[in-house]
Amino acid sequence: MTETTTSQVTVLGLGPMGTALAAAFLAAGHRTTIWNRTPGRTAALAERGATPADTAAAAVAASPLVVACVRDYAALRTVLTGTGADWTGRTLANLGSGRPDEARALAAWAGAQRLGYLDGAILTPTPTIGTAAGTVLYSGPEESFAVHRPTLAALGGRPAYLDADPGRAAAYEMALLDLFATAVHGVAHSFALARAERIAPTDLAPYARGIGGLLPEMIDRAARQLQAGEFPGEVSTIGSAAATIRHVAETARAHELDTGALDAVRALVDRAVAAGHGGAGLGRLALSVPR
Ligand SMILES: NC(=O)c1ccc[n+]([C@@H]2O[C@H](COP(=O)([O-])OP(=O)(O)OC[C@H]3O[C@@H](n4cnc5c(N)ncnc54)[C@H](OP(=O)(O)O)[C@@H]3O)[C@@H](O)[C@H]2O)c1
Repeated sequence: MTETTTSQVTVLGLGPMGTALAAAFLAAGHRTTIWNRTPGRTAALAERGATPADTAAAAVAASPLVVACVRDYAALRTVLTGTGADWTGRTLANLGSGRPDEARALAAWAGAQRLGYLDGAILTPTPTIGTAAGTVLYSGPEESFAVHRPTLAALGGRPAYLDADPGRAAAYEMALLDLFATAVHGVAHSFALARAERIAPTDLAPYARGIGGLLPEMIDRAARQLQAGEFPGEVSTIGSAAATIRHVAETARAHELDTGALDAVRALVDRAVAAGHGGAGLGRLALSVPR
């Protein structure tokens, strides 16, 4: 495939992320066709040179690479199965979020339509798209990725290819959103507990940032420990964490705050201690998540 054909791209879905993707393709000089289920979202991109398509089928027909970014796989299925599009010679890169099994099922559907399929996971927010900080992981057939890599590079950073399993990018995304979701809960809960103790949010914030700053080193340490299968507790131990979490949960309960997540953390830590890992480093906790 030539550079000319790979520089034509279609974007299906113009929510905040689809709009950012289309803008990045345009900024990189790619001929960009756009479509959204609900009309009225194309004007700003059209002013920058995008070509709005009236139907999803027309949008698919316009480009060899079709980048989809709608809310979830169910929505994408509705769009794809409703198009009546001729997929011959097309590659679909789905950059919307979803489960690994949904990615694999969609890849199987695509295979039956003789449609190339790449699954992508966008790991960074809309302002990063098209910049060095933009991070998108891809999985699926390596040859499809190699063909479309020059176009996908417009989204920023270095497009990272994982492997041929179409569910692999979504698997990374789910593991990382697992961390993000519980961190979001932690931020909200920490401010709620502080509020109950009459600590002003802006007084807490600098110290909360400090806690967040501990995570990168902790993540690397846990990864090293899990990789080696050895969990030295010289920095901190699961047994010590068990006592700390008990204090936090009891304080939150005394203020009649929801303690669901804290109780879950406490159950995890207690399970590890009961299994004899109280002296181990915190990386060992990952092995106690399966009940
Ligand atoms: N925003 C981010 O920072 C970010 C970061 C990483 C990943 N993502 C992922 O990117 C995807 C898109 O996110 P977003 O931020 O653009 O907003 P979103 O609200 O998740 O998705 C909006 C898009 O989905 C379309 N849509 C929703 N339901 C539909 C349906 N049943 N049929 C057809 N189209 C449907 C919307 O079309 P209408 O306009 O017609 O409703 C719109 O184009 C999501 O999977 C999200 O998890 C987003």
